[in-house]
Amino acid sequence: MARALDRKTALVTGANRGIGFEIARQLAARGIFLLAGVRSEAKAHAAKAAFGKLGLDIEPVVLDVADAKSIPNVLRDIEGRHGPIDIAVNNAAIMIDGPGGFSSTIRELTDDTFRRTWETNVFAPMAIIRTLLPGMIDRGYGRIVNVSSRAGQLSGMSAGFPAYRVSKSALNALTAIAAAEADAAKKDVKINACSPGWVRTDMGGPDAPRSPEQGAETAVWLATLPSSGPNGGFFEDKKVLSW
Ligand SMILES: NC(=O)c1ccc[n+]([C@@H]2O[C@H](COP(=O)([O-])OP(=O)(O)OC[C@H]3O[C@@H](n4cnc5c(N)ncnc54)[C@H](OP(=O)(O)O)[C@@H]3O)[C@@H](O)[C@H]2O)c1
Repeated sequence: MARALDRKTALVTGANRGIGFEIARQLAARGIFLLAGVRSEAKAHAAKAAFGKLGLDIEPVVLDVADAKSIPNVLRDIEGRHGPIDIAVNNAAIMIDGPGGFSSTIRELTDDTFRRTWETNVFAPMAIIRTLLPGMIDRGYGRIVNVSSRAGQLSGMSAGFPAYRVSKSALNALTAIAAAEADAAKKDVKINACSPGWVRTDMGGPDAPRSPEQGAETAVWLATLPSSGPNGGFFEDKKVLSW
């Protein structure tokens, strides 16, 4: 697809539904070339059609974040086909402990649940950051947004969903470390985390007070920050949250 030289390219993981779909929709609606990360070829076709119905011409890319080891090669292939990724939104995540799931307390938590949660929620964002950050620093521009959660706040930690909570605390730590590395490079590269709030999606359930549109807003803001914007912060509703 031919596109303007100054048009930014964004990758959003888990862009086929929920908050990720909405982040992708809002970025694409701003004219950003959108690579919609989805789990499988079948979901790629469905995503192309769903965005197309909204008049948005996005490019679906198959990126299964449960297979973090494959991510560097998959990303190199994607950049080979579509050019450098300027903006990456690590949105895809799973919450498989908790009511209806396998465990909701540390006593019930299995190693399998803990490992699977970490593979998707921590190893995958780490692989994406590690693969894309050097190119962003070389090119002098980059935005990485890690969609985290208040569930990962150490300052407000409580019981329940242990695998999910610990994975989001780790994602926050990863954000701060990667942002410090970006800062040291003295380039226009910014890495931040956000909490979408409690949002009506498959994960958040029907009783959540926020719409996906509201949940996506801070991630979109961080993905499109000007060079004067913050680096290495944790935000909800565009305001700083404590870690
Ligand atoms: N909803 C809330 O209230 C809430 C609150 C705080 C934080 N968050 C965070 O917000 C983000 C989005 O949550 P959500 O509510 O939109 O969740 P969701 O409705 O469960 O959607 C999750 C998305 O991640 C994708 N995904 C999961 N595993 C994947 C894999 N292995 N490969 C590729 N894609 C995968 C899913 O794709 P499939 O369709 O293929 O499964 C789906 O697109 C997550 O990081 C979540 O932790 C949500």
